[in-house]
Amino acid sequence: MQRPVIRITCKMIPALGNTSVRMRDPQRVEETLRCMQKAGLNTLQVISDFDMTLTRFAHNGKRCPTSHNILEVSKMISPECKEKLKDLLDKYYPIEIDSSKSIEEKLPLMVEWWTRAHDLMMQQKIRKDQLTLAVQESDSMLREGYQEFFDCLNQHSVPLLIFSAGLGDVLEEVVRQAGVFHPNVKVISNFMDFDETGVMTAFKGELIHIYNKREGALLNTGHFEELRSRPNVLLLGDSLGDLTMADGVQEVEKVLKIGFLNDKVDERLPSYLNSYDIVLLEDETMEVPNAILDFLVATS
Ligand code: TMP
Ligand code: MG
Repeated sequence: MQRPVIRITCKMIPALGNTSVRMRDPQRVEETLRCMQKAGLNTLQVISDFDMTLTRFAHNGKRCPTSHNILEVSKMISPECKEKLKDLLDKYYPIEIDSSKSIEEKLPLMVEWWTRAHDLMMQQKIRKDQLTLAVQESDSMLREGYQEFFDCLNQHSVPLLIFSAGLGDVLEEVVRQAGVFHPNVKVISNFMDFDETGVMTAFKGELIHIYNKREGALLNTGHFEELRSRPNVLLLGDSLGDLTMADGVQEVEKVLKIGFLNDKVDERLPSYLNSYDIVLLEDETMEVPNAILDFLVATS
């Protein structure tokens, strides 16, 4: 199938003319950016998904791991459990990316995936002190240009919320090892509870899965309350479930939604174009978010 080409050569941000970029309404994107620019960087906050958004989907033709996968392939997990987790991935991932099914149809199945995977993990006596090594030995990779992205936000004191249905302890370690866990970064995710000997016993709080980020946002109103003076949001995601990550933002003004479309691109493009302002096709870099930040920084 021929991909629809809705490309613009944007004078304001040349990277928006990249071949990976698709926009349903380029004029609206420009207007949103102009409003954000006028309001200034001190009114901005960034909310980003983690897996396959801040991290790469693939590198040299090989899939990169999610935060769950990092743990799954580690020495902490027994071979039998690895097999079971792999079976779950093979069963549920195709459902996650199936554009012929509605979110309502997928939701109970995704809850089932997360619940079964987390139950298996809880039986594995995962040790807190082994997470560092698991991340070091993994093939996890943040997207090209991540350093500029994290450093720029920190330098300009723009809060970055990483909102993930993955594993918080693991993703924080990825960000830490990359040297970009700056003070402006906050993480909402699934965090493990450890006993006094450092062995995992359970997960803390409410489960965050791919389709309840809105509830997660509303449960964390304290965070958004603190950012009341920042009503403009740059939202980054790779799943349609990521679109509700900004629902806890107080008195929101403008939200610019950037979606990475990594897999089954042709099938999923129409729904992504309908819901994300900017869609990036098989783009393993932070070039476009960075160019947008450069634009906002240069004019603030
Ligand atoms: P995210 O919200 O940070 O993107 O994390 C969710 C991703 O985690 C989603 O794309 C599916 C993936 N996942 C696994 O890779 N393995 C698992 O066992 C589970 C439950 C989710
Ligand atoms: Mg994701």
